[in-house]
Amino acid sequence: MSENILIAIAWPYANAEIHVGNITGSHLPGDIVARYHRLKGDNVLMVSGTDSHGTPVTLKADALGKPVEEVYKEYHNGFLELFQQLGIQYDLFTTTHTENHFKVAQSIFLALQKNGFLYTQKSMQWYSPAADRFLPDRYVEGTCYICGADGARSDQCDVCGNVLEPEKLLNPRAKTGDGALELRETEHFYLDLSKLEPEVKNFLRQRAGYMRETVLGESLRKIEAEGLKPRPITRDLDWGIPVPVEGWSGKCLYVWFEAVIGYLSAAVEWAKVSGKPEVWKDWWVNPSARAFYFIGKDNIFFHTSLWPAQLMGAGKEFLQIFSGENGLLTLPFDVPANQFMNLEGQKISGSRNWAVWGRDALTRYDPDALRYYLTVNMPELHDSDWDWAEFVSKNNGELVATWGNLANRVLSFCYKHWDGHVPAIDLAALRRADLDLLAAIEAGFQSVGALLEAVKLRAALQESFRLATTVNQYLDQQAPWSAIKTDKESAALTIYTALRAIDSLKVIFAPFLPFTSERLNGFFGCESPLFGEPYTETVKDALGEHTVLRYRGQSGHLVWKPSELKPGTKLNQPAPLFKKLDEKIVEEERARLGN
Ligand code: MF3
Ligand code: ZN
Repeated sequence: MSENILIAIAWPYANAEIHVGNITGSHLPGDIVARYHRLKGDNVLMVSGTDSHGTPVTLKADALGKPVEEVYKEYHNGFLELFQQLGIQYDLFTTTHTENHFKVAQSIFLALQKNGFLYTQKSMQWYSPAADRFLPDRYVEGTCYICGADGARSDQCDVCGNVLEPEKLLNPRAKTGDGALELRETEHFYLDLSKLEPEVKNFLRQRAGYMRETVLGESLRKIEAEGLKPRPITRDLDWGIPVPVEGWSGKCLYVWFEAVIGYLSAAVEWAKVSGKPEVWKDWWVNPSARAFYFIGKDNIFFHTSLWPAQLMGAGKEFLQIFSGENGLLTLPFDVPANQFMNLEGQKISGSRNWAVWGRDALTRYDPDALRYYLTVNMPELHDSDWDWAEFVSKNNGELVATWGNLANRVLSFCYKHWDGHVPAIDLAALRRADLDLLAAIEAGFQSVGALLEAVKLRAALQESFRLATTVNQYLDQQAPWSAIKTDKESAALTIYTALRAIDSLKVIFAPFLPFTSERLNGFFGCESPLFGEPYTETVKDALGEHTVLRYRGQSGHLVWKPSELKPGTKLNQPAPLFKKLDEKIVEEERARLGN
């Protein structure tokens, strides 16, 4: 039975390029799990988009002196390019700046309002008379009233680590240099999370047993310690989604409130551009669908508490407002948040250029080499570290030595000695050792599959490598390279068996290393590709134009199963799958950091 699986990946802010920490934190694990479920024949919908609103983006635009619309699109286009090159295969990667997203987000707001979870409240906010506007908390800095440090953001002091009450900040000034500031009264909508606290706790407790302790434990402990408190969900800003209430012009929905709604709106948009406008409900209005959220640890609260609260609070009113139907929205099934990846022992920092940028790294390294290191080093339960020397040693000592050489050595040997064909052996002649090896590899579909289901990706890749090592050991014992001289018949049985094992491993490795599995698939003479092709498309709506990433040509048949390689099959000329890396890149790459 095929399942409906929603793969929801954190929406990157349009204020910085994507680096290896972001890739291993969310995009890559989401892609691996999505590809696995696609191979299994599940109905997968993998969505995300650019988080285009909010002060991180407007601050960046101010710093660059460019219109925010232009800045968000520049970063967005860079993201689209990166995902295509790295094989992050989104069904739809869109942006929050679309008419569709505005409408979905506003409908969630209205549903929450209808259900009594919103209220308005007045508060004091820093205002710049010179610029004639309220300034977002992030725009105001000054002296921390707790520790006395200068340069504190009005909502947070990085020196003492305290969350601050903006109106108590000392010596406030605008980061943008908008003159003297004064406190003025403003009014905002608040989401009364305290009313939803019992539901959120319940929701989390039901996920015990499989949700990571680093996610579930942290979320529950935080709620038990502090409770869920009401949060303002509107801002005095003009870049963003207008508050859908009369008399509230000039105010927008808070960026986190609306960005998480993107998981829903992107599904709606995908259905629309695919010409099947109703099918988003297969994932979103379907009690048996499972939704996985791939995020970094700094986003945990928003996905385990805020977003479920929004969904439960909106309840069946959302669908009534949005499409006049009945039904409830799917809650997150799992939120396998990752910890952080550091770089050469230090925190990744874009501003100091202490980072390995995705698009830049792809100009020098193959996507599967990067994907490999980012998976074996994924910060699933603990922070991890990108280390260039380790990148080289793992590439050469594991990826090339164990898997690449296995595939290349067997395929080239066979291509040469059996005239470009799989040995035309009699299957009934396979010996005990051959059958044992095939059975061991066959069992890998269960063992690796179970680890992928449970989002234990490091362990899943390790298990796949254990299988490749088993084939290497089998070859060492059978030594077809010498047997060919004395007993070609027996060498044929060995090579057939090893090829069939490799043909299976091609599928097992495919979620992790899709580019090389696809090539391997071609060496085996297969016409139908394992995966489809990504492409971009520009969509017009009332807000203008935006470009989205999609893909076409999924094979659609079940392939997560052992190979049934036919003796005598015609092969295509093989070539090495991976490149050995020169030690000297370690120093070259280290020299790039921090400049
Ligand atoms: N833009 C946020 C970040 O980069 C993540 C937003 S995820 C979403 O940290 F759910 F809100 F979309
Ligand atoms: Zn402080």
